[in-house]
Amino acid sequence: MQPRTFRAPGRVNLIGEHTDYNLGFVLPIALDLATYVETRPSPDGLIHVFSEEQQESYSWNPAETATLQPRRQWTDYVAGVAVQLALHGVDLPPLHLNIRSEVPTGSGLSSSAALEVSTALALLQGRDFPPLELARLCQRAEIDFVGMPCGIMDQFVSVFGQSNAAIKIDCRSLDYQAVTLPPDPRIIAVNSLVKHELGASAYRIRVAECATAVEALQRRFPEIRSLRDATPAQVETTDMPAVVKRRARHIVTENERVGRFVEAAANQDAPAMGALFLASHESMRDDYEISCEEIDFLVSAAAETDGCYGARMTGGGFGGCTVNLVEARAVPFFNETVRNRYASRFGINPFIFQCVPGPGAAEIRNIS
Ligand code: GLA
Repeated sequence: MQPRTFRAPGRVNLIGEHTDYNLGFVLPIALDLATYVETRPSPDGLIHVFSEEQQESYSWNPAETATLQPRRQWTDYVAGVAVQLALHGVDLPPLHLNIRSEVPTGSGLSSSAALEVSTALALLQGRDFPPLELARLCQRAEIDFVGMPCGIMDQFVSVFGQSNAAIKIDCRSLDYQAVTLPPDPRIIAVNSLVKHELGASAYRIRVAECATAVEALQRRFPEIRSLRDATPAQVETTDMPAVVKRRARHIVTENERVGRFVEAAANQDAPAMGALFLASHESMRDDYEISCEEIDFLVSAAAETDGCYGARMTGGGFGGCTVNLVEARAVPFFNETVRNRYASRFGINPFIFQCVPGPGAAEIRNIS
């Protein structure tokens, strides 16, 4: 049995933040940064997983996969996927898995989905598995085993990503469409290199607040099943606690912004695309309250820089990356200006890179 390598990308979400678990719309791109899992046979009958980043390994007997328990570490993403595959009746073979990732952790670029999806493909060893089921299974692993009540966006785009296009996902029907982006502006990510610990617990609270908003709306509009179904006017005119109303306002306006952004991209209207980015950021900052000082600084610095059409935080929140729309000819100036301003304010040299939409997860065929 030859070694095999499976790859799954991270992502940048262009717009549609926290809308996925409200069954709305999102517009991510799969990145050319990915997680790679190399597999080879394991003669001792066990599954051995080694993480190059952690320099740590984890082993178990595949026959006992169903009994694995969370350990609150990186291994939970791997074990969670294995457990889900076992629940789906997949017989897991004894294997060595070597994990190497280019997706920085804690940066809002979805290193967890990249790890889950690449692990699932590695454990499947090329066996047929419907791609949508694969994405859902990885999401389930994260919800049930890692304990993070996430939506479907990250795993979906890691599976279905395409070169040269963003993916607009309807998180209720799980239909998607490829959205071609104009070649100019460029999509530039700025990694703040900060991640505030609040992240996971604040995420759970937001999920619960959205459920509370739906309950309030349902009393007046019984047809509303999720915030996806509500209009801004319905949110504004329904009685609910002020904080809950702000959360709901972000979701319903953000859903609309996704549609408007896709339209602006089709019209190659960079100023309109940029304005929607800024509106999305303000909504996350003021209504959803998931930004932080460093990210707000990066967004303002970007917006003040010549050639930048707009900027916003991307991902779950409380740090990570901003995503910026920058006129191609202004990119070097933008990078330098934002880097210098961030470094002199926070003493951190941010990691800045251009996002190029890449393909979804697959086995890498070795050319022999
Ligand atoms: C995290 C979750 C996603 C999504 C984003 C916010 O990345 O895993 O499901 O909710 O946050 O848009």
